[in-house]
Amino acid sequence: VELLLPLVALGYLSGTWLGALTVCRLAGVGDPRLVGSGNPGFSNVLRLHGRRLALATLLVDALKGMPVLGLALLMGLPPWGQGLVGLGVLLGHSYPVWYRFRGGKGVASAFGVMLLLTPGVALICGLVWSLLAWRWRTAAIASLASATLAPLAAFWLAPDYVVVVIVFTLLVLARHLLNIRRLGRGEEPGL
Ligand code: G3P
Repeated sequence: VELLLPLVALGYLSGTWLGALTVCRLAGVGDPRLVGSGNPGFSNVLRLHGRRLALATLLVDALKGMPVLGLALLMGLPPWGQGLVGLGVLLGHSYPVWYRFRGGKGVASAFGVMLLLTPGVALICGLVWSLLAWRWRTAAIASLASATLAPLAAFWLAPDYVVVVIVFTLLVLARHLLNIRRLGRGEEPGL
């Protein structure tokens, strides 16, 4: 348990690696924080630069927490401890110290964290995200719905992680307040 704090800190640091920034820099396409929704994430990169760069962004953001989470699992941390490390990753992604605490919305990061901790929940959410994004052509609708669904799926598939998943959900929903407002006004851009 004395390793918990270092692991949470490492989780936070891994989270601060914003896939969208690295991918866009490597592709030589300009900072995604300055265009489109301004969000350094999969959806904004998808709208701006297409599937290839979006997929690369998703991969970085979903995988970046896995080394430290894998460590947490190997060390036998209980679910709440694993959850705290995962929360570190999400906080790093959404509030990165290097970028004046302005990061992303945490959807891909939460997906990656859950893929390790609660794979069934992650797969259900991923499937629902894809279906809704395809049907409604709007990333935020897909994200809001799958984030809301996640605690229910956890209740069913991974009861030990319900509280952890609820915290992730609240964080992701809180990061979508502008999207919710835009959806209400019918101004949310489509994919
Ligand atoms: O995955 C993030 C998505 O839900 C919203 O991002 O860029 O459409 O505001 P964006």
